Amino acid sequence: MRTHIGFLLAALMLAAPLSAGAAPKKASQPFPKTISFQKHIGWIITHRCLACHSAEAKKGGLALDTYNHLLAGGKSGKVIVPCKPEASRLYQLLTGKAQPRMPLGEPLSARHIKMFAQWIKAGAKADIGPDVALGGKAEASTEIKVPKIKLQVPMLPEVSALAWSPDGKIVAAGLYREVKLFDPATGKLLATLGGHADKIHSLKFSPDGKILAAAGGLPAVGGEIKFWSIPDGKLLKTATGHKDYIFTFAWSPDGKQFATASYDKLVKIWDYATGKPIKDLKDHADSVYALAWSPDGNLLASGGADRAIKVWDPKAGKRLYTLNGHGDTVLALEFNKASNTLYSVGADKTFRTWTVNKSNGKQVRSVTAHGGVATSLDLAKNGNMLATVSEDRSMKLWNPANGGGIRTVGNLSDGLLSVAFSPDSQEVAVGGFDGALRIFKAADGSVVRELITPPEKPGAKKEGEPAAKPKAAAK
Ligand code: HEC
Repeated sequence: MRTHIGFLLAALMLAAPLSAGAAPKKASQPFPKTISFQKHIGWIITHRCLACHSAEAKKGGLALDTYNHLLAGGKSGKVIVPCKPEASRLYQLLTGKAQPRMPLGEPLSARHIKMFAQWIKAGAKADIGPDVALGGKAEASTEIKVPKIKLQVPMLPEVSALAWSPDGKIVAAGLYREVKLFDPATGKLLATLGGHADKIHSLKFSPDGKILAAAGGLPAVGGEIKFWSIPDGKLLKTATGHKDYIFTFAWSPDGKQFATASYDKLVKIWDYATGKPIKDLKDHADSVYALAWSPDGNLLASGGADRAIKVWDPKAGKRLYTLNGHGDTVLALEFNKASNTLYSVGADKTFRTWTVNKSNGKQVRSVTAHGGVATSLDLAKNGNMLATVSEDRSMKLWNPANGGGIRTVGNLSDGLLSVAFSPDSQEVAVGGFDGALRIFKAADGSVVRELITPPEKPGAKKEGEPAAKPKAAAK
């Protein structure tokens, strides 16, 4: 199981410093197995080449703003020979074998040159639409151009985000380019909401339950949020912003504003009515993955790859202070009802509790919660239980008051990514990397229902069919 999630996290950790524009932090950082045009090459071109090779500037007759332009070449003809880096003029110019060495100014790092070499060697293929503009174009347009590529893997898309509607009647699952709405009582598929740019990273029902926000976007291109009317499933609006995809979304308690956190190191506060950002919160040194708005509306907490949790005054758009303690990326945050306690989990496998107010905050406790990266958490609506999920295949329930473990539901399929309590706090929905989506009873950890069963499993049912009570992996 480490393979999938290990790969996912490798990709995550790799993408972070790339997006941050900084040199990789750890010398041991693995070189990616496959080079993505969109993510790796696209990033390098955006940051190191577009200044002189945009569609307008076109130095040497070469535009690098899209895949098609790159392949078309410049004044001396084609600059890429697929599968043959040595024979490609572009590669010769990057290494200095041909002159003038590119980029003019400072040469690329050995790592970035190797990325070009590997990408050309593997056939120089595009994994986004050949005419999709690289770079921060998404900021200006209202809609992200969705490249036409099909999911290649013969497996279910991961359940990367989950939300349970405030009235308890809908479980929303964020998948690859679509959101599925299930009736948790019967397992019936109610609706499929499509048209998203890429993976859905965050799903949040508005406080009144009438709107479902689904956030994501395209890596190295921009963030996207689609707002769906509930229960009729109509698209209300699409908001775009950020220079990279959005990892987390949070409504303000009155539902009039929302906040987003992105790979681009920024937290943005938006006005829902206009769908436009109103404040940029800049202070994280790296990608931001976690976000929570306090129920009283006075505090906004964010956490990210710089291992820091920042507490902000969302009205003033000012950082109040930073909470340090996590030894690795902070992946999820949540406030308690009183807004004076903050819970966090992260790649350092810990579940931490902090007391916070407007002037300062401090860590109350840290528990090594899992045997692997703790990917997400959710506090039961009654405040009496907190659930964490991990790449170690377990979901754990905790007493938030003292950090004591209540129950472990272990040996679940593959790594777990998303978790959401039912509004009556009796049940917990858990989504996995392998596409599994199950509902567990909080009181004993038994499986109540499987909403999506991965195909490998013997006796698998199709999603949306009412499931017979499955024999559970619970213990
Ligand atoms: C500061 C400006 C600048 C930057 C940045 C820059 N280039 Fe260039 N590039 C040029 C100029 C000027 C030429 C034309 C040089 C000549 O003809 O002597 C050129 C030519 C080229 C050519 C040859 C085109 C042809 O058909 O002959 C390639 C390939 C190229 N650049 C790739 C890149 C790549 C890849 C990057 C980023 C990693 C990059 N360049 C960054 C200015 C730049």
